[in-house]
Amino acid sequence: MEIKITVLDRSGDKKIISGPTDINLNLMELLKIHKYPVEGTCGGMALCASCHVYIKSDHTLPDLTPSEQAMLDDNWDSKPNSRLACQIGISKDIHLLNIEIAPES
Ligand code: FES
Repeated sequence: MEIKITVLDRSGDKKIISGPTDINLNLMELLKIHKYPVEGTCGGMALCASCHVYIKSDHTLPDLTPSEQAMLDDNWDSKPNSRLACQIGISKDIHLLNIEIAPES
């Protein structure tokens, strides 16, 4: 299945991107594929926070892991709706997700 995600970037541009659910991508990788300035420095290990996003829709997402929680606790841009995009798999559960890319930390 191909899902759609609405992305608001750091310059205020909003776009709808799409991604396949069958090749084990995470949201950080999908944002990189679509050329968003999300570095993913740690390779998706929840250790760098360069993939920090704000979730603006009310989807049910996987629980935060302790390392994701620790990274977000240490980030002064964190909000209650913060997540690390590398910890969110591209699946049908996040179809029509709405996110904003957090400021560079
Ligand atoms: S890519 Fe490093 S925390 Fe997500």
